[in-house]
Amino acid sequence: MKVGIPKEIHPGERRVAATPETASRLSKLGFEVLVESGAGIMASFDDAAYRAVGATVVEDARALWSGSDVVLKVQPPEQHTGLGVHEAELLRQNGTLISFLWPAKNQELIERLAARKGTVLAMDQVPRITRAQKMDALSSMANIAGYRAVIEAASFYGRFFTGQITAAGKVPPAKVLVIGAGVAGLSAIGAARGLGAIVRAFDTRSEVREQVQSMGAEFLEVEIEEEGEGGGGYARVMSPAFIAAEMALFAEQAKTVDIIITTALIPGKLAPTLITEEMVNSMRPGSVIVDLAAEAGGNCALTRPGEVVNHRGVTIIGYMDLPSRLAPMASQLYGSNVSHLLADMGGAKSWHVDLEDAVVRGAIVLRDGELLWPAPKPAAAPVAPKPVTPPKSVVPAHAAAAKKKGHAGVIGLFAGCAAILGAGAVAPPAFVSHLTVFVLACFVGWQVVWNVTAALHTPLMSVTNAISGIIIVGGMLQLHGELTDPVTLIGAAAVLLASINIAGGFLVTQRMLRMFRR
Ligand code: NAI
Repeated sequence: MKVGIPKEIHPGERRVAATPETASRLSKLGFEVLVESGAGIMASFDDAAYRAVGATVVEDARALWSGSDVVLKVQPPEQHTGLGVHEAELLRQNGTLISFLWPAKNQELIERLAARKGTVLAMDQVPRITRAQKMDALSSMANIAGYRAVIEAASFYGRFFTGQITAAGKVPPAKVLVIGAGVAGLSAIGAARGLGAIVRAFDTRSEVREQVQSMGAEFLEVEIEEEGEGGGGYARVMSPAFIAAEMALFAEQAKTVDIIITTALIPGKLAPTLITEEMVNSMRPGSVIVDLAAEAGGNCALTRPGEVVNHRGVTIIGYMDLPSRLAPMASQLYGSNVSHLLADMGGAKSWHVDLEDAVVRGAIVLRDGELLWPAPKPAAAPVAPKPVTPPKSVVPAHAAAAKKKGHAGVIGLFAGCAAILGAGAVAPPAFVSHLTVFVLACFVGWQVVWNVTAALHTPLMSVTNAISGIIIVGGMLQLHGELTDPVTLIGAAAVLLASINIAGGFLVTQRMLRMFRR
């Protein structure tokens, strides 16, 4: 089975759908790899590098398209000015194409591909689910865009990012505000922190607070309780009151920060305008705004998509090709995402289009010319928009939950005391003292475990290994009678359960440590 990688023809596109390294991975999956001559040159990969990993370099673009069972591209097919033909027409009958496609805005292209009876998978439609992370090209590109946004900002900003004390005087660190802490935003935070800047970030989804803080940035908040999580890893449109509140926050911040990087977007919607002309006017000359949402209209009122604007000394960058500006890295990650998708589809040996596979079902647009897009939504409870509530008039949700939890704890404590008193009236003193320890252990254990935030459950598990060790010793001390003896039975059960806990704890700890290893 042959996989073809044509040269990208979109103006300014420097990426390529496979690097020599990912091409060699494709060969290992059993594919014969064809690469158009010069396909990787803009990403610093010459023909010789592809030949060195066993790929065949094809001079003629037509021959490459017609000779490939699966064509891998970055940009959607478009008119090939050199050949005077649309790339969709170059796809062989019943051939397969994998690329970014944006089907919602490319109806005509889909019709062209359907006429070729093509099977088409759109990398931009890969669902944001855990299993699909290694195939998530949008996240790979957003990660690069966030990093590059900081580099672009640094190149226009006439000062250091990091603070310094030099013989010539003290240099304060740059202050960076990141709006929208999704994939691109978090990457921007990491890059700006790496350069030594003071970073603040804002997002409508409160769940990203810990991620922002763990990267050393300050998480800004507004005085309105409204949750921005919209399901599937994406945000939802916020109420006008919330937008007004966050804009008041940005108006304050604009006066003090040097760089603003905006990434606020909800897929399929126009980007909200969050930075007004007045806010730009209030920024110090020399400040920089990088608007990553430029393609969807921009988060800044003065953004011009694809251009750099200088407004009263403030530079507003609206580049829409940030990943392409880091072409070798972007090609490597994109090529890797695509090769994982091909592996998921069985490789060359057992190639199949499995609609039961959630990743394939999400990404597939056409199967042999039949339109299968959009994929049916997974059956999940819709997220109901929560009402906007000013903080002082209403009890916050977490406070109410805590109150409920507190009630349960008090009831439990009273029940425990009642049980001890009841038992104390009839049972021998030794039993009462054991029961007291037992009830207290249950109560304290419950409180300790349930009050630990979910994000810390993994480290908690490592700690409980020590406790499980004590349980095993205690259990073993009871193993001296027949197995029919209830004490021995309970001791054996304790040893078994605690051993499972210890083994599980070690496994989870290992996984956790692997996450932090470079
Ligand atoms: P994402 O969906 O992971 O992140 C967007 C974040 O914005 C989410 O965390 C969301 O909660 C937040 N958000 C939404 N509305 C908001 C609001 N009103 N206020 C504050 N935060 C809000 O998206 P991702 O992958 O990080 O991409 C971010 C942006 O970067 C998108 O607009 C994407 O199209 C763009 N992008 C631009 C590139 C370029 O070359 N300019 C390249 C790649 C991505």
